[in-house]
Order: sequence, then structure tokens, then C-alpha cells
Amino acid sequence: MTAAAEPSNARIAESLLAFWADAGVDGMLLDETFDRIEAGKVAPPQPPPGRAAAPAPAAPTLRNQPDVSAAVAQAQAMAAEATDIEALGAAIAAFEGCGLRFEGAASQAVFYRGRADAPLMVIGEGPGADEDRAGQPFVGRAGQLLDRMLAAAGLTERVFITNTVFWRPPGNRTPTPAEQAICAPFVERAIAIVKPKMLLLVGGASAKAMLKKEEGILSLRGRWHEWRSADGAHELPAMPTLHPAFLLRQPAAKKRAWADLLTLTERLDRPDRPD
Ligand code: URA
Repeated sequence: MTAAAEPSNARIAESLLAFWADAGVDGMLLDETFDRIEAGKVAPPQPPPGRAAAPAPAAPTLRNQPDVSAAVAQAQAMAAEATDIEALGAAIAAFEGCGLRFEGAASQAVFYRGRADAPLMVIGEGPGADEDRAGQPFVGRAGQLLDRMLAAAGLTERVFITNTVFWRPPGNRTPTPAEQAICAPFVERAIAIVKPKMLLLVGGASAKAMLKKEEGILSLRGRWHEWRSADGAHELPAMPTLHPAFLLRQPAAKKRAWADLLTLTERLDRPDRPD
């Protein structure tokens, strides 16, 4: 019998970087500042001879993308017309305002699976390759882990599962805030139709978009937050937790996700007190 192959250094480094990225780390800093240009290790960038350095292009933001507000308005109008979950699914399928639809996803939108009257709505980041093929959210390896966790918490028959965007981001990249904002009226309409008692926000990209927060998932997870509708008229308790794809890479973190699920289940099962 041959010994199991050791993971290569590249795989180990990749997994570690993915861990930090999921945790919200987006830059590497030394304890002490170190000016590499001053130290002569890196030459400062020089404009080509005879030409002044061009100003760096502004990073795209929600505000400087003119088509975002038009797409959001169209999504709001289409979502508002849907009075049940089937009609909302049809509206999403007909919606052409989200660029992801044209960036390599299969033609079908990935909307939801589960019960349309569920007390718990699970909101992930966006469909991956398996979901794109199947037309249902969370059906790949990460989804199978999510299902096992929901089953262990007795939640299988009590969930409506969806995502912040309905088409697969190319290469499984994180959906942009603009893509999430464009799909948000449909997510919000799903919440209005299903009327869950609470939300489980799976992964940093979901938690940040739904709660409009900048913190990483490691700081958001495990405590209750308040989700608010865009008009501020509706609120729901929301529990952010670690993404199952992250848990597949970092199994030691499963106990934290499990603790989050137990906190959520305890509140979900608490009898409603009459006012
Ligand atoms: N990851 C998600 O966030 N959503 C899915 O549907 C699948 C994987």
C-alpha cells in the first residue's frame, strides 16, 4: 500500500489564504512599517517617457455604476408584482438586469429549495457549478454538509434555502455588492412571501450584504443581528454563520458553526410569548 500523498506547499498556501480571505482579511501588514521603495527593493512605478502618470481609475462602487440603480428599480418593480413564490421564481427567471446572468451561468436562474412557508430562511452567497447545473441552491459538497448540519439540528423540514444572487458568479468568485444589490429586491420579496421567523446568513458575503456591515464573518457570526427591509418597515433576527465551503477546508471550525446553529434553534423553538 502506498502512503497517502502529502498536500503540496501550494495547496497548503492556497487553503491558508482561503481561510484568511473567508475570515475577512484583505491585506497583509507587518507589525512595523517598512518602506520598500525607500529601501530600494522595489523601484517606484515610472510613467512612460514623455507622458505624465495617468490618475488611477476609480474603483467601481455602487454609486458610480449608472446602470445599478436602474436595474435595482426594475428588480423592485418585478418583485413587487409577485404574490407567491412561484410567481417570484418566474420574475427572477425573466429578469435580465443582473450581469451574472450573461457571464457564463447556465440559462436557468437558481432560486430556492425547501418549504415556501418555512420558519427559517437560509441565505447563502451565490450558486456554484453544481447549483448552476441543477438549478437549485446548495446541492454540491458544501450544500451536502449544510444539509447534514440542518438535519442534526432538526431543521431539515423547516427551511427555505436561497442565495444573495441567482446566477453563478464566473469562477465561483464572490458576488459583487452591485450584483447583490440588484438581486436584493427579489430576496426581500421572498422574505415577505415566506415570512420566516428568522434568517441564517451563511458566509461573509451573505452576512455583509444582508446586514449592510463591513466586518468579516468571524466577528459577525455567533450573535444575533437585526435584518431590516430596504424601507426599514420590517425587521427579523438574523444569525450569521460560517460558510460550509469554509468548513470543508477548515473542519476544526465546524464546532463554531454548530454552536451558531444551536443558538438559532433554541430561539426558533422558543414558544412565542403573547404580547
Ligand atoms: N455556496 C453558496 O453560497 N450557495 C450555494 O447555493 C452553493 C454554494
